[in-house]
Amino acid sequence: MQDTTLTFDYLVLGSGIAGLFFALKVAPHGRVAIVTKKRSADSNTNYAQGGIASVTSKEDSFELHVRDTLTAGAGLCREDVVRQIVQEGPPRIAELMALGMHFSERESDEVPGARELDLGREGGHSKRRILHAKDVTGREIERALLNAASRQPNITFFENHIAINLVTSAKVGLPGPNRCLGAYVLDKTARVVKPFAAGSVVLATGGCGKVYLITTNPDIATGDGVAMAYRAGATVADMEFIQFHPTCLYHPRAKSFLISEAVRGEGAVLRALDGREFMDECHPLKSLAPRDIVARAIDSEMKKSGADHVQLDITHKPAPFIIRRFPNIYETCLDYGIDMTKEPIPVAPAAHFQCGGVVTNVDGETEIPGLYAIGEVACTGLHGANRLASNSLLEALVCAHRAAARVTADKAQPQPAAIPPWRRGKASNPDELVVVAHLWDEIRRLMWDYVGIVRTDKRLQRAVKRIQNLQAEIQEYYWDFVITADLVELRNIATVAELIVRCAMQRPESRGLHYNLDHPDADPAWAQRDTRLQLPA
Ligand code: SIN
Repeated sequence: MQDTTLTFDYLVLGSGIAGLFFALKVAPHGRVAIVTKKRSADSNTNYAQGGIASVTSKEDSFELHVRDTLTAGAGLCREDVVRQIVQEGPPRIAELMALGMHFSERESDEVPGARELDLGREGGHSKRRILHAKDVTGREIERALLNAASRQPNITFFENHIAINLVTSAKVGLPGPNRCLGAYVLDKTARVVKPFAAGSVVLATGGCGKVYLITTNPDIATGDGVAMAYRAGATVADMEFIQFHPTCLYHPRAKSFLISEAVRGEGAVLRALDGREFMDECHPLKSLAPRDIVARAIDSEMKKSGADHVQLDITHKPAPFIIRRFPNIYETCLDYGIDMTKEPIPVAPAAHFQCGGVVTNVDGETEIPGLYAIGEVACTGLHGANRLASNSLLEALVCAHRAAARVTADKAQPQPAAIPPWRRGKASNPDELVVVAHLWDEIRRLMWDYVGIVRTDKRLQRAVKRIQNLQAEIQEYYWDFVITADLVELRNIATVAELIVRCAMQRPESRGLHYNLDHPDADPAWAQRDTRLQLPA
C-alpha cells in the first residue's frame, strides 16, 4: 500500500543541532516536518563531547580564531566563510542559551563570587575557547533543542523514517527550471514509502563515519545526505578529507567510544607503550597538535612498534578534577575496568568527521534550488583540508540560522508541488539478508585498509575498482528487492565510499587530512583548489 503525499512548508532530514536549530527558526513561518532515522535524539550531535568553539573571552579575538581555523585547514579554507562563521558565533551561542542550553561555568578569577563560562582547550586552538557542558555537550544541546521543539505546534517529528531519495522536478519530468520538490521516505515501522513534498528541503543528515570499519560515529552516520544530493545532481567536494580522531577508546568490548580531545586540552599526554611521549618529536604543540598530525603520528607509532594502540595519560592531574571535568569518560572507562585517574587510557585513531560534502554557500544553498544542506553534510569552505576541533557545532548553528533567514525572507516561497507516488515495481521480499551485511562489512574494511589515514596511489586504485564492482552488485540487489533501511544505508555508504576515493584520486599531493605516500608534500598549485564531483546529467 502507498501513502498519499505528506505536504509541509519545510522538510528537514535529520534531527541534530543543524536540523533542530533550523526547524525552530522557521516554525513560526510554516509547517515543518523533521524526518529522523531512529529516535529524535539519535544524531551525531548527541555524541559530541568536546563542545562549541566561539570567541567569548577577553583574552581571545575573532582574528585568532580565524587564524587557527585557517592554519588547521592547510590552505584550503574559504577565508570569507571562516570570518563570517567565526564572527556570527557569539549571537548564535546566546540564542542557544536562551533556548535552554546550559554550558559549564566556573568561578570568575576577576570578580569574587561571580560565575563565568568555563572555556576548554582543544588541539590547534591558540586560546581557551571551547564552550562545553562537562564532557556531554552534544547530549545537553539535544536536550535543550528537543525540549524547545516539543513546544512548537508547527513542528512534526517522523521518527524511524529514513529518506531514500530526493525528488527533483527534472527527475520527475516537470517542465521549467529544476528544483527540489521533496523526498521519498521509508517508514521503517509500517514498511511503506511515503512521498513528502515541501517548498524547501533541508539536508541536516550529518556525516559518514560508518563508511569506515573503526569510527567514533553512531550507527546512523551513513552519509545519506551526501549520497542523496549527489544522486539528485548536486556537486560534492573535498570528500577525501576525512578526519580521524586520534583518541578513540581501544578496548575489545568498546564500540565507538570517543576520548575527547578536551582531555589533552587539560594536560593529558600521548605515550607509546614503552612510556615515551612520542608527540614531543613531531610538533611544537606536542599532544595538542592539530588532529591530522596527531592521528598520523599515532598511526606511524603503531606501525613501527606493531602495537594496536597507544596510551593517553592524565594521571598527573588530581583525581577530583578529572572526575568533575570528565564524568562521562571517567565512568565509561571505569565500566571497561580502566581507572583514568590512576592508569593511562588505551587509545587508537578512528574515522570521526567528514570535512567535505555537498557544496553550499554560507546560507546552506546548494546548486539545486529548493535544496539546502547544513552541518556536517555540507561543504561551505569553513574546514578546508582539516577541521579545527569544535568548529563543526559552530558552523551548524550559524549556517542553520542563515539558511532559515534565507528561506523565510524569500517572499516568493515556492508552494509544495505534487510528487508522483513511489513505484515499488516487481520487487520481491529479500531472501538473503546476509548479502547486505556482507557487502556492508566489505566496504568498511576496504575503506579502512586502503583509504585510511595514510594512502597510496595503488591502494586508491584497488579501492575504486573494488567499490565499483560492489556498487554494481548493490544496484542489482536494490532494484530486485523490496526496499529496507539497511539496503538504503548500504547503497549510501557505497556511494559515499566511491566519492571519497574518487576525490582522493583527484588530488595529487598531501594536504591536511589527505596524506598520500606517493605524493608526500603539499603542492602549492593545489592550494585553494577543491576536488569536485557531479553525476553526469
Ligand atoms: C572531541 O571532543 O574531541 C571532539 C570534538 C570535535 O570533534 O570537534
